[in-house]
This record gives sequence, structure tokens and C-alpha cells, in this order.
Amino acid sequence: MTTLTKPEQPSGRRDGAPFLSVRDLSVQFATEDGIVKAVDGLSFDVERGRTLGIVGESGSGKSVTNLAVLGLHNPRNTAITGEIVLNGHELTGAPQRTLEKLRGNTMAMIFQDSLSALSPYYTVGRQIAEPFRKHTGASRKAARERAVEMLRRVGIPQPELRVDDYPHQFSGGMRQRAMIALALVCDPQLLIADEPTTALDVTVQAQILDLLKQLQQETGTAIIFITHDLGVVARICDDVLVMYAGRCVERGTVRDILTTPRHPYAWGLLSSVPRRKAPVDAPLRPIPGTPPSLLKPPTGCPFHPRCEFREYVGDTRCQDERPMLTLDSGRGAACHLPAEQQKSIFAEQIRPLLGRS
Ligand SMILES: Nc1ncnc2c1ncn2[C@@H]1O[C@H](COP(=O)(O)OP(=O)(O)O)[C@@H](O)[C@H]1O
Ligand code: SF4
Ligand SMILES: [Mg+2]
Repeated sequence: MTTLTKPEQPSGRRDGAPFLSVRDLSVQFATEDGIVKAVDGLSFDVERGRTLGIVGESGSGKSVTNLAVLGLHNPRNTAITGEIVLNGHELTGAPQRTLEKLRGNTMAMIFQDSLSALSPYYTVGRQIAEPFRKHTGASRKAARERAVEMLRRVGIPQPELRVDDYPHQFSGGMRQRAMIALALVCDPQLLIADEPTTALDVTVQAQILDLLKQLQQETGTAIIFITHDLGVVARICDDVLVMYAGRCVERGTVRDILTTPRHPYAWGLLSSVPRRKAPVDAPLRPIPGTPPSLLKPPTGCPFHPRCEFREYVGDTRCQDERPMLTLDSGRGAACHLPAEQQKSIFAEQIRPLLGRS
């Protein structure tokens, strides 16, 4: 039986450095309408064996950030600046050949849409076996055995038969599992999961989250989990980065963000989640307005046109001055409100809305 192996001690790693370190990352696209500032000065770390959740509404730059880590942007219309250091290796500006080698081997991605990520023309087994053969030089027979084993690992029944099925012969949940098998076949040390369970029903979703957690415990993989679902965050993440308009507006542990969030945008995300104990007709509190255009992001705090709390700041800083994110033991929010005021507003005005005492 093939087993997932523990990652070896990395070669280029600096002592004490996080496995993935992103510093001051900016990603801009040249479009007919102008420059889209999709990611603007983003920094974060991911450690081995831990899961970082990246949350935010649609269009906040979550996928663009992670496609930059994977080196999947088209260099012809994309300008990327900043540092992306994986296991001691600088990825920004690295040759395509280096990135290709790392993708699928050291780092892998699970996409939301398994149908478009799996080719309809090849069997599921072949699509899992090929990258394994390419990266390890294994024989066809060994790679097929590995594909069967991976399908078994992700809970596909009768994998020795299903390995020869085409993607359309799998159900949606099975295809998503097959994609996870494909992403994990080379024992990646960094796994990026971009809304991987959004299209699935809750039971399959829960199974897949448990599976990812279990695989992480076995292999020490670092995971970045992109989602807009805070229930999923609570279930799988250790640390959370809240993104808005291409920037990090709040960072902390999952407990920090879900129990004592400090940023008004994080309050909005939490208040707009349906509450299990609330009466069925209790209104949801969606965040007013819509995310800004990244062609011309707002001045000052990018959230200010939608923020109900900017009057508490007392002057025009919210409109004029970009609030910086300063971290204290990995925790912080980019907001001009003083920390004490963030705490009291949350305790007095937001927590009661969440149905918590
Ligand atoms: N290739 C591209 N060219 C121009 N704009 C893009 C491109 N890819 C993404 N964007 C824009 O970048 C912003 C962030 O997108 P994305 O990272 O996909 O958001 P999400 O947080 O939903 O994953 C969006 O405004 C999107 O329209
Ligand atoms: S800086 Fe001002 S506008 Fe931005 S979140 Fe804080 S209070 Fe609201
Ligand atoms: Mg996305």
C-alpha cells in the first residue's frame, strides 16, 4: 500500500522562517478600462501543518492572490511586485520552468469547479497518474497503482474499477474528491484550496473538510483555504486573513476573528451569516452597498463608503488616510478606530446581533 510520506526537511529553508511568506504583494492587471489593482500590499505567512483561511466577499482578491503564489498569472497583462518566498525560494520573477516544477510537486491547488479542472477526454485515473509519473519518474503501472490508492484515500468506493471512469461518470462530490486526489498525488507541502466545497451539499462538504484535515495531520501540509463561508472557516482553519478590496483588513487566529473581530468589515461578514438559534423570520444584516471597483479604489480606508462606524473616528481620516495593519502577536485590524473603541462597539452593538451573550 502506498502511503503519504512526511515532508522532508526543506533545502533552501531559513531557520525559523515560515513555510510560505508573502510580503507586500501587489497584483495589477492592465485592462482596456485601466489598471485593476486586484491585490494591494498584502502580507501573510503560512506555517506547516496549519491552515490559513482567506475570507472576503466576491472580488476581494482572494483567488488573484493565490494564483500569484502559484505563478499562474499571464505575465503579458499582469504586474506582480513584492516577495513570495516558499520554503526559502523566492517565487516572484522565478522562471516558468521553476514554477512548473513546484506546481503539483511542492504546491498544488484544488479549484471550486471540478468539471472544468478535470479534462473530459481522459479517465480520472490517468489524470491522477500522469503528474505522479512526471514528477517522480514512476512506471505506468506504479503510477496507476498510486492513482487507485489516492482514490481510495479520498473515499471513492471500488477505486480499482472507478479509476478507469471518465469525469462525467462521477457525481459532483466524487469529482471533487478526485480533484483532491489529483492535488495530493505528489504529496504537496503547500495546498491551496479555492472555495473547494462551495458547490457541494453540506454532508459531502463536511466529509471533504474532515478528509483535508486528516491528510494534513498525516503529512504536515500547509493549507490556504479560500472561502466566503464562515462556517467552513470555523471547521477547518487555524488562522484567518480577512480581505477587502485587495488588502488585508484583519488578521488573527480563527478564535480571534470569529469571537472578537475588530474590523467593521469583519463585523459585517459575521452579522450577515444566518444564525442557527435565531427565529426563522429574523432578518439577516447584509453589509450595505457593494464592494468597490478596483479600477478606482476609494481613497483612505477602502471600506469607508460602506462603513457605519466611521463617524466614531471623529475626523475625515477614514476618507483621507489609509489605515495600516499593525500586528501584535499575529493579531491586528487596519482601522482608524482605537482598539478600546473597537472592543466596546463589538461588545455593545455587534455581539447582541449575533445572538451571543
Ligand atoms: N485577469 C484579470 N484581468 C482583470 N481583472 C481581473 C483579472 N482577474 C481578476 N480580476 C479582478 O480582480 C479582482 C479580484 O478578483 P478575485 O481574486 O478573483 O476575487 P475573489 O476574492 O472573488 O477570488 C476582481 O475585481 C476581478 O474582476
Ligand atoms: S477606518 Fe474608518 S471607515 Fe475604515 S473600517 Fe475603520 S471606522 Fe470604518
Ligand atoms: Mg475567487
